[in-house]
Amino acid sequence: MEEIYKRRSIRKYSNKDIEDEKIEKLLKAAMQAPGSRLNAEPWEFIVVRNNETIKKLSRMDVNSKPLSGAKVAIVLIANMETSYFKHAWEQDMAASATTLLLEASYLDLGAVWINVAPKENRMEYISDLFNLDKHLRPFNIISLGYPADGEKNEFLNKYHKDRIHYEKY
Ligand SMILES: Cc1cc2nc3c(=O)[nH]c(=O)nc-3n(C[C@H](O)[C@H](O)[C@H](O)COP(=O)(O)O)c2cc1C
Repeated sequence: MEEIYKRRSIRKYSNKDIEDEKIEKLLKAAMQAPGSRLNAEPWEFIVVRNNETIKKLSRMDVNSKPLSGAKVAIVLIANMETSYFKHAWEQDMAASATTLLLEASYLDLGAVWINVAPKENRMEYISDLFNLDKHLRPFNIISLGYPADGEKNEFLNKYHKDRIHYEKY
């Protein structure tokens, strides 16, 4: 529970670079997520460290501003050719993104989910930027860096008993 409790969205980052080993751990976590079909999960990842490309990602839409200060961006892409249960691609990708975010918090990184799918203008922007074929669907972008001064992963109570229903609604 400790890691789950402390994870928050962090949108401002320090200048410190993220170590390659940490990026590898994030990717391992992302691929450890539950998927709709074992060994036929749709997820693929574009790791971006290039500052110019990160700046372009930050200009995708109004919601992608946190990327302007990010050290690394990881773009989650669904490969519809290798995916087995094609109707579940968004659920698969969301599971992967969430697992990655939890590992980011564990590694003391700041991270936030930047929405792409299902907004067509955002998906097209990413597809054009990386020259993606039609079977590769951009799902979201994880914006990453060490938290800036005053920013940190810390507990906020999000438990609401009135959201729970037993046996019937
Ligand atoms: C599906 C989804 C889409 C999101 N899209 C964005 C986004 O585009 N830009 C952003 O800054 N935060 C985005 N977030 C982060 C949420 O704003 C954040 O998770 C929420 O406010 C709860 O705060 P917490 O993550 O600190 O608990 C997104 C989160 C989810 C799950």
